[in-house]
Amino acid sequence: MTITCKGAVLRRIGCPQPYAESRPLSIETITLAPPTASDVVVKVAGAGLCHSDLSVINGDRGRDVPMVMGHEGAGEIVELGSAVTDLRVGDHVAFQFSVSCGRCRACRGGRPNICEAAPAARSRGELLSGGSRITDAGGATLRHQAGVSCFAEYAVVHRGSVVVIDPELPLTEAAVFGCAVMTGVGAVVNTANLRAGESVAVYGLGGVGLSGIMGARVAGAGTIVAVDIEEAKLDKARTLGATHCFNARDPDLDAKVREATAGGVDCALDFAGAIPALQSAYAVTVRGGRVVTAGLAPFGAQFAFEQGDLVSNEKQICGCYMGSCVPVRDLPRFVKLYRSGALPVDALIDSIIGFDELNAGFDRLAQGSALRQILAPHGGPRPT
Ligand SMILES: NC(=O)c1ccc[n+]([C@@H]2O[C@H](COP(=O)([O-])OP(=O)(O)OC[C@H]3O[C@@H](n4cnc5c(N)ncnc54)[C@H](O)[C@@H]3O)[C@@H](O)[C@H]2O)c1
Ligand SMILES: [Zn+2]
Ligand SMILES: [Zn+2]
Repeated sequence: MTITCKGAVLRRIGCPQPYAESRPLSIETITLAPPTASDVVVKVAGAGLCHSDLSVINGDRGRDVPMVMGHEGAGEIVELGSAVTDLRVGDHVAFQFSVSCGRCRACRGGRPNICEAAPAARSRGELLSGGSRITDAGGATLRHQAGVSCFAEYAVVHRGSVVVIDPELPLTEAAVFGCAVMTGVGAVVNTANLRAGESVAVYGLGGVGLSGIMGARVAGAGTIVAVDIEEAKLDKARTLGATHCFNARDPDLDAKVREATAGGVDCALDFAGAIPALQSAYAVTVRGGRVVTAGLAPFGAQFAFEQGDLVSNEKQICGCYMGSCVPVRDLPRFVKLYRSGALPVDALIDSIIGFDELNAGFDRLAQGSALRQILAPHGGPRPT
């Protein structure tokens, strides 16, 4: 059926801060077309504010607009396309932001997170099955963000953009699994393939980086170094398992990390989206070690290293998209780890907000004063 509901539309990139005043996200009435055969309709219960959204809003990694924002979230299936036979109305699902075709070289190689068909649909703001399902009050087409657009009461997405989750999991908590948790934990257990006892350094302690700290602890890391420019983030990392914490503004950062780790770490992970963080990560990695970068710096940002150092020290530098995850394999696994207490991802959530606070929420994310704020489009528990 056609659904008319509320959604957050980005119409102008690069509005000045504070966003609470410039209001880059306008809360509008949007219309969702009925699902095509391969789509599903989700009633969104929670959607996380991620730095990747902020990078679109501030123009660091701009996209064509107008676009309904939101790529990390969870909800309940309310309608199925005619060809979707493996889901039921009422199923709880988490969104995942990199839908895959199942047929390209990457998919055939078991790496659906880097499906070759996905980037073209994403840059057009369309679903993998083609076209957008969203229009504004005047009937103009609105783009989907990452095939999702969950800063809205309802979302129409391709079947492959959702993963069924344990119905016992509160949906506001489930919201952070599709991006922060898959990326942060996946970077450690998939991309870095961390072995028990290895030492790690994690740069950038937002929702993604703190998930990396939790992933390192679950994987049995020996020493876990945490680095950020915000002291409060370092305190949080300590509570989640970091054994050593350093402020990135310290001019002796690299030397201090090396001193704390008997010469350097086996694996350094960047979740900061800032080139100085990646440079330090590279510098503190030992001979034979690996550097994983998942942070997304502004378009065009370059990273330099001495080629001879890479060769003679046999370092590896790996990009990491969505934690190198196979979503249907990894997301339920991470949910199980959460339910066992091993991956306390609820610690990432600092507030549940309504549409009225969405722009101010991005101010808080930009200032570094928030971790994961969850938009509850239909209302929900408020912070106490
Ligand atoms: N690769 C992927 O698939 C993927 C998925 C999600 C997010 N991301 C990217 O990961 C990054 C983190 O996302 P987030 O939502 O956790 O962001 P966030 O803003 O919550 O956290 C980023 C953290 O990095 C810190 N930081 C900034 N400069 C630093 C520096 N020089 N050294 C150390 N720390 C520094 C900030 O203080 C902040 O705590 C973003 O760039 C985001 O776009 C990538
Ligand atoms: Zn994200
Ligand atoms: Zn593919």
